[in-house]
Amino acid sequence: MPPIVSLQNDAESQKLLINPSSLGNAVKGSIAIPGDKSISHRALMLGAIAEGTTTIKGLLLGEDPRSTAACFRAMGAEISELNSQQITVQGVGLGNLQEPQDLLDAGNSGTTMRLMLGLLASHPHRLFMVTGDSSLRSRPMSRVVKPLMQMGAEIWGRKDNSLAPLAVKGQQLTSIHYYSPIASAQVKSCILLAGLMVDGKTTVTEPALSRDHSERMLRAFGATLDIDAATNSVTLTGQPTLRGQQVIVPGDISSAAFWLVAAAIVPGSDLLIANVGVNPTRTGILEALAMMEADITRENERVVAGEPVADLRVKHSQLQACEIAGDLIPRLIDEIPILAVAAAFARGKTVIKDAAELRVKESDRLAVMATELGKMGANITELDDGLEIVGGNDLRGAELDSFTDHRIAMSLAIAALNASGQTTVHRAEAASISYPNFVSTLMQILN
Ligand code: S3P
Repeated sequence: MPPIVSLQNDAESQKLLINPSSLGNAVKGSIAIPGDKSISHRALMLGAIAEGTTTIKGLLLGEDPRSTAACFRAMGAEISELNSQQITVQGVGLGNLQEPQDLLDAGNSGTTMRLMLGLLASHPHRLFMVTGDSSLRSRPMSRVVKPLMQMGAEIWGRKDNSLAPLAVKGQQLTSIHYYSPIASAQVKSCILLAGLMVDGKTTVTEPALSRDHSERMLRAFGATLDIDAATNSVTLTGQPTLRGQQVIVPGDISSAAFWLVAAAIVPGSDLLIANVGVNPTRTGILEALAMMEADITRENERVVAGEPVADLRVKHSQLQACEIAGDLIPRLIDEIPILAVAAAFARGKTVIKDAAELRVKESDRLAVMATELGKMGANITELDDGLEIVGGNDLRGAELDSFTDHRIAMSLAIAALNASGQTTVHRAEAASISYPNFVSTLMQILN
């Protein structure tokens, strides 16, 4: 019998081979998942600009937080060697980021670049140059550049200042009430971080609620925020004193999502995923899977360092199609690729709408999922702003590509668990952006 999961490395990239023919018939055991990516970025950033020492337990060691750490080290923050037990960040104090001697490289990380731009734009008398990898250099930055310019920022870049590399000449910014056209936590957080240095109040109103980790953590570090849930508005009072804190990062529900779907679709499965962040602005995946009649229970619910956490138990069940749209979308924005996999194994037609944002993620996730799942025999149609998936076709193994997108690589690997024959996921190393141990956990639950 060939191994179920194996890796082949060549000079530039990694192939992940999955051959489920010898798969017993279950995904079993108890697993831990890596730290939340969004919270990891914010802990590093707030630690870097606060006074005193921040300790971070459970930091995600993926490539994206490493990019954030490297950028803030280059601006004077002392960040100890990264590990997931405990690291320390010696902050510079609000307004004291130093002008870096070189380009700030955000790598593949949209969160690093967009949140950091708010801080850079509000540091007078310094010049910052920001770049990223080829994927990030093609992603829209105008969504943060425009509101920052309304606050008085000076930013230059290609295509009418919308694409990195960007040059930022820090300024004393002024307050704003920004009505964001999109529900984006990156946009909201960028403006709030810029507002830290403003004399006055900065308000962001968004069309639907996006993840609120910045709001929670800013409060914990000492900022004053008023939240108006009725209008999805948050108001930050400028020039607070931010003091270093102890941050405990919960497991990333966006990483747990791969195992939730793996256990839901593979017959006989019973899996316990420990220590998952279940902040209500992130649990859209649980709501969608509940609509699909997945068998998922929350155990041991608690609050850890201001974020709700639970253990999730998931067992196999026959999934049903559902419709995913509207306000639910921002609460499961990163889980749509893996939900498309779940839908391919569900009874009936699943429709995902209002998700045009997926076209400007690390790849065009609507196009890529339609093409790659299509190669496996799924009945999947790309819509302008979503996907239509008629479940129930038997999937077959195929030669697939991650398009260097971490969530695509992992979603396709999970689809392969329930396909006949061998699947090869090319450029599978992309998973390390958010989940360095993805393949070893996959091997663990299949044994
Ligand atoms: C993130 C916000 C989301 C999400 C991304 C992380 C964050 O992006 O897709 O992976 O940490 O704020 P948008 O704000 O662009 O929707």
